[in-house]
Amino acid sequence: MSARFEAVEVQGGDVFWVGAVDWNLRDFHGYTTHRGTTYNAYLILGESGPVLVDTVKAPFFDEMMARIASVTDPGEIELIVSNHSEMDHSGSLPRTVAATGASRLLVSRMGQKALAAHFGDPGCEVVPVSDGEETPLAGNRAIFLETRMLHWPDSMFTVLPDRRLLFSQDAFGMHLASSMRFDDEMDNAIMEEEAAAYYANILLPYSPLVGKLLEKVRGSGLSFDIIAPDHGPIWRSDPSWIVGRYSGWSKGCSGPRVVVVYDTMWGSTAGMARAIGEGASVDGVEVRVLSMGSSHRSDVATALLGASALLAGSPTLNNDLLPSMADLLTYLRGLKPTGLVGDAFGSYGWSGESVARLRSYMQDMSVDLLGDGIRVQYVPDQSALAACRDLGKKTADRIREINGRAG
Ligand code: FEO
Repeated sequence: MSARFEAVEVQGGDVFWVGAVDWNLRDFHGYTTHRGTTYNAYLILGESGPVLVDTVKAPFFDEMMARIASVTDPGEIELIVSNHSEMDHSGSLPRTVAATGASRLLVSRMGQKALAAHFGDPGCEVVPVSDGEETPLAGNRAIFLETRMLHWPDSMFTVLPDRRLLFSQDAFGMHLASSMRFDDEMDNAIMEEEAAAYYANILLPYSPLVGKLLEKVRGSGLSFDIIAPDHGPIWRSDPSWIVGRYSGWSKGCSGPRVVVVYDTMWGSTAGMARAIGEGASVDGVEVRVLSMGSSHRSDVATALLGASALLAGSPTLNNDLLPSMADLLTYLRGLKPTGLVGDAFGSYGWSGESVARLRSYMQDMSVDLLGDGIRVQYVPDQSALAACRDLGKKTADRIREINGRAG
C-alpha cells in the first residue's frame, strides 16, 4: 500500500513545498522533539526548468519524490540548491541527483567542502556561490547570503527578492510535525513554545551571529512576505513575528524568571529545591522547579531561554554529581546561555563534593554566583531549609534589581 503525497503551493502557483513530515521523531541530536518535525524542501517551477531547494532526511526520499511528481516530472529538474549540508536536509541529495539527473548543485563555498566530506562525488557538477551572488533560478532573480554557523559553517539563505521570498534553511524554523504548512493555520501558543525550544537548543550558542545576520539583512534592504524555513511552519501571515523573536533571543533579553533544577537520591536535595523555589516566589518573579527525574535536558534549556537565574542542585554520589546533573550541565555549558545569576546546592553523606562540582560548571558558564552554595549533610533540618528559602529570596531580589535596571 503506498500513500499519495502531494506538493503544497507556497506562492504564485509555481513555488511548492515538497518536504516530508517526521511525526514521531523524538531525538534530534540530544534535543527531545516532543512534537516531531518536518524536513521542508521546496520546488520552484519555471520555463528554464524546475529547481529544487534542499532535500529531506534520507528515509523520507520517496515521500519527497512523490510530492515533486505530483506537480512536475522529477526528470525535468536540472538544478538543486543545497542551503545546508546537515543530513536532515542533504541525506537524500545523492539519490535525488541520481533520480532526477540534475546536472548542477549550487552550494556555499563551505557547503562544497561539507558535501564532499559527507558524500564524496554527489554525481553532478557542484557550483559554489559567493555571499551576495546573484543568479537566475527558474526564471527568478535569486541572491545567496552566507549565514555561517546558522546552523553550520556551510549554511546559506536563498532569496528571491522580486517575490519577497526567503528560503532560510534552519533559521526561523522549529521542530513541529503537522498536517498544516503555514503559520496562520497553526496554534500560536504551540508555535511560541516550539520556536523557543528550537532556538534554545539549536541556535542559542550562535546568538551573536544571529544578531549580526538580522542587521545584515536589514541593511541589505531586503524584506519578505514569506519566510520558508527547512523545519516547521512557513511564515506567510506575519514573518515579522518570528524575526522579532529571534531579535530578542539573540540579544539575550531576559525577564524575572528563576529556574531551579535538581536531581535527588533520597529526597533531601528535592526538599532543598522546593524551599529555594518557595523563597524565590515573590511578586513579579516567575519560578520553575524542574527535577531531572521528570524533565529532559532540552526542556531545561528551553526554560532557561529568557531566564535570569539558574539554581542547580545535586547530592554527592561517589565524590561527584549525580550523572543526570553532569549530563544537563555539560549540555547547558555547550549552549552558552548568558547573563545568568545563580548558585548550587545539595545534600551529602560524608564527602560532599557535589556543590563544588556544580559551581565549577556554573563558573564555566559565566554564571554570576551569589554566594558559597548550600551543602546539607544527610537531611535538611528547619534551619537548612530556612537557608534555602533565603537563597531563593536573595536570588529573586537580585534579578528584580537587574530587571528593574534593564527596564
Ligand atoms: Fe535542520 Fe542544521 O539541520
